[in-house]
Amino acid sequence: MNEQPDLLEGAKAVLDMNFKGVYTAPSDSVYPHQWLWDSCFIAIGLRHYDIERAKQEILSLLEGQWHNGMLPNMIFTETGTGRRHAGIWNSAVNPNSPDDRATSGITQPPMLAEAIVLVGEKLKKSERRAWYRQTYPALLKYHEWLYQERDPHKEGLVLQIHPWETGLDNTPPWMQEMHEHQLAYWIRAVKMLRLGGIINVFRNDTKRIPASQRIDIIDAFGLFSTQRRLRRKGYDINRILRHSLFAIEDLTFNCIFIRANQHLQDIAAFIKEDLPSELVADMQRTENALEQLWDEYSGQFYSRNFVTHTFLKQSTIATLMPLYAGVIPKKKAKQLVGLLENQFSFGTAYPVPSVPVSSPLFDEDGYWQGPTWINTNWLIIDGLRRMGYEDHAEALKQSTLEMVQRGGFHEYFKPNSGEPAGADNFSWTAALTIDLLKR
Ligand code: GLC
Repeated sequence: MNEQPDLLEGAKAVLDMNFKGVYTAPSDSVYPHQWLWDSCFIAIGLRHYDIERAKQEILSLLEGQWHNGMLPNMIFTETGTGRRHAGIWNSAVNPNSPDDRATSGITQPPMLAEAIVLVGEKLKKSERRAWYRQTYPALLKYHEWLYQERDPHKEGLVLQIHPWETGLDNTPPWMQEMHEHQLAYWIRAVKMLRLGGIINVFRNDTKRIPASQRIDIIDAFGLFSTQRRLRRKGYDINRILRHSLFAIEDLTFNCIFIRANQHLQDIAAFIKEDLPSELVADMQRTENALEQLWDEYSGQFYSRNFVTHTFLKQSTIATLMPLYAGVIPKKKAKQLVGLLENQFSFGTAYPVPSVPVSSPLFDEDGYWQGPTWINTNWLIIDGLRRMGYEDHAEALKQSTLEMVQRGGFHEYFKPNSGEPAGADNFSWTAALTIDLLKR
């Protein structure tokens, strides 16, 4: 499966369909705004055929940056839905929010550095230098913000305050913590009285996509009520941490951050900028801290509760993300690759499932609770290559392309049958297909 003109042209058509003038929406029908890690993946695809649009995709993300350096996971459009969602978030409650953009008040996995570097790879040296100079201040400010606000105890691991910050919205370990520490009394009542089915009828997302393929209604209520709580605290981390037990050092987020820190160092070296020495020490601490998330007994890494330091001991796609971080010892990498090969774990016919089939929580339809997603496959392929598992990377690349070729550019896929699910014409599926075909 090498040159595939139809697949390539189809992917470009999806990215054109979702183009909004300055950025690309994840999916025209379901997700009209600009999303942080989506746009990074999108730029990684665009760079192969329209470098100016790839740069624009990233620059448009930077327009939403907060004065304190935070990059929001969503920047809202000026449309009707945009204004409605902007009202729900009301980012103006925090004085750091930008004056001329309505955004969310939380972030998403820090894929920005990767996107800047991969776009830079397509530029001549002098243009690359200009590109790095243009984006470096915002990138630096973002990483510094992550340390200042999200690593208050200088542990090296940054914490997340909402499941949406992980990009894996309803991933089981976060849902379990949310049910334990966060569910408002009225959501508990809906759960006890089994009113979810009735309420489902009024949902917007399930008008286009079957309810079985979307987030369970109780989990969805939990996500929204957690967001309201953060808004009531003005998205102010000190007020939030003073009142909450719901703060997690998420494995996926921290693995992506480790890789992003390496890229930031490379960018600084390329443009001959000295990184602040405190930041360099912080970054080293993060690399070392990943070891603390390893559980010797089960031979896996886990996310950890920020307050109690207990592991969230459920295996999910996050389990494999240390391969992408790229800093783990060979022996541990081998153990993770073993899980990927195992048909009773992550080795399904169309890998890699977002929850291993061995988990009692595996649900082939269940959004981030079973389906295979193209962005996490891309991260694992990249990690496998850098950890020396070239053959595994190639095999996963081929099965990923085959799945998209057969099923179309869907949001996610069923890991046993390869059948497509979720929204169609999904941007990062298209963009990363282009990248896999071209790399
Ligand atoms: C969902 C996904 C998240 C993504 C967003 C837009 O919330 O879980 O990762 O960024 O949709 O596509």
